[in-house]
Amino acid sequence: MSNLFHSLSLSLPLLLLFPFFFFISIAAQFNDTDYPRCQAYKCASITISYPFWRIDSETPTQYCGYEGFGINCSNYNGREIPTAYLGSDSYYVHNISYDPKWIALVDYDVSPVVPDVVCPRVRHNIDLGDLPFNFWGQNVNLSFHFNCTGVPSFAREIRWLSTPTNKSFVHTLNSEPENFNWTEYPCLEEVETTVFDVFGPTTTLENDFPGALSKGFELRWVRTEDCEKCEESGGRCGYNSNTGEEMCFCSGGKTTTGYCNGTFVKTRRFKFNFTSPPV
Ligand SMILES: *[C@@H]1O[C@H](CO)[C@@H](O)[C@H](O)[C@H]1NC(C)=O
Ligand SMILES: *[C@@H]1O[C@H](CO)[C@@H](O)[C@H](O)[C@H]1NC(C)=O
Ligand SMILES: *[C@@H]1O[C@H](CO)[C@@H](O)[C@H](O)[C@H]1NC(C)=O
Ligand SMILES: *[C@@H]1O[C@H](CO)[C@@H](O)[C@H](O)[C@H]1NC(C)=O
Ligand SMILES: *[C@@H]1O[C@H](CO)[C@@H](O)[C@H](O)[C@H]1NC(C)=O
Ligand SMILES: *[C@@H]1O[C@H](CO)[C@@H](O)[C@H](O)[C@H]1NC(C)=O
Ligand SMILES: *[C@@H]1O[C@H](CO)[C@@H](O)[C@H](O)[C@H]1NC(C)=O
Ligand SMILES: *[C@@H]1O[C@H](CO)[C@@H](O)[C@H](O)[C@H]1NC(C)=O
Ligand SMILES: *[C@@H]1O[C@H](CO)[C@@H](O)[C@H](O)[C@H]1NC(C)=O
Repeated sequence: MSNLFHSLSLSLPLLLLFPFFFFISIAAQFNDTDYPRCQAYKCASITISYPFWRIDSETPTQYCGYEGFGINCSNYNGREIPTAYLGSDSYYVHNISYDPKWIALVDYDVSPVVPDVVCPRVRHNIDLGDLPFNFWGQNVNLSFHFNCTGVPSFAREIRWLSTPTNKSFVHTLNSEPENFNWTEYPCLEEVETTVFDVFGPTTTLENDFPGALSKGFELRWVRTEDCEKCEESGGRCGYNSNTGEEMCFCSGGKTTTGYCNGTFVKTRRFKFNFTSPPV
């Protein structure tokens, strides 16, 4: 409540002039009880709330949230592990912030929830596909090469993945000399990944990249274009996989395939007794 009053006092001059916009602006703070089909869930310490949604153990036919934003709250040795998916790859959900909007993910293969992270090995690039995510925060891109004939001077050998004849190495992307001739170092595989930039004057790439991998990276999300009308009408977007239809969940519990009637503006007006601005 104190939050609400705080924003109220700040917005009061504005409120007198533009009462309508005021109600829109506090929409993000509304309790999920206004959207009974958009319940928030806790998974370990993570709150899964719109536009994220929980992937249930049984196949869901309908969800409230963005496509691709489903989070699987799976159970591993009695511990809850929130898992998100980018493309076909799994990521441990380290944290979510709804204001400002960001999600911190760790590639599952190198995450702290996997027992053997002493000798981590990334297996895939980060594939954001068409999802409305952007890399955010201070990050650095690492490039891994596996099964190579040698290690270039600017790169660092990964000892636990190298044999006398087959070398693996890591380097910071774009730290290679300009016009470097990669064909002199043939490799079987290459993977690129993004991590928080944890590197400083007291760290080295070869010692500290495993720690960086286990801290992961941060993504910011934006509204999907398809969802604009629904959200601007006070609704929340979703999907019905039975009918293949996009849904809009309105405040008060109504569900439509179009958009809401701005119902939540009226409801809020009444609940907080904000009547017409004094003249
Ligand atoms: C939402 O409302 C319910 C019941 O009114 C309350 O139990 C819950 O703590 C509220 N959640 C938030 C995030 O305010
Ligand atoms: C969710 O996690 C469970 C347990 O790890 C797994 O069996 C299931 O396939 C996962 N669901 C999806 C959609 O990946
Ligand atoms: C998640 O992020 C919030 C805000 O930055 C921070 O206060 C909280 O400690 C973080 N939680 C974890 C588990 O890192
Ligand atoms: C790392 O790569 C991502 C995706 O290509 C890009 O958005 C980001 O700006 C890069 N970061 C740096 C520090 O170059
Ligand atoms: C090198 O290639 C072999 C054969 O394909 C494979 O079994 C091995 O896992 C690879 N090593 C690394 C570090 O990728
Ligand atoms: C070493 O790399 C070669 C290709 O360069 C590959 O055929 C071979 O399987 C690798 N051996 C091991 C033990 O990884
Ligand atoms: C790169 O190295 C390969 C093998 O040594 C050589 O055949 C090729 O001409 C070189 N390319 C350039 C652009 O120097
Ligand atoms: C919008 O208003 C019309 C007319 O009052 C009503 O029939 C319809 O059900 C409403 N739709 C929603 C989503 O509230
Ligand atoms: C709003 O005002 C009405 C009539 O003035 C009153 O009956 C009601 O209790 C008030 N509601 C709140 C939440 O203060």
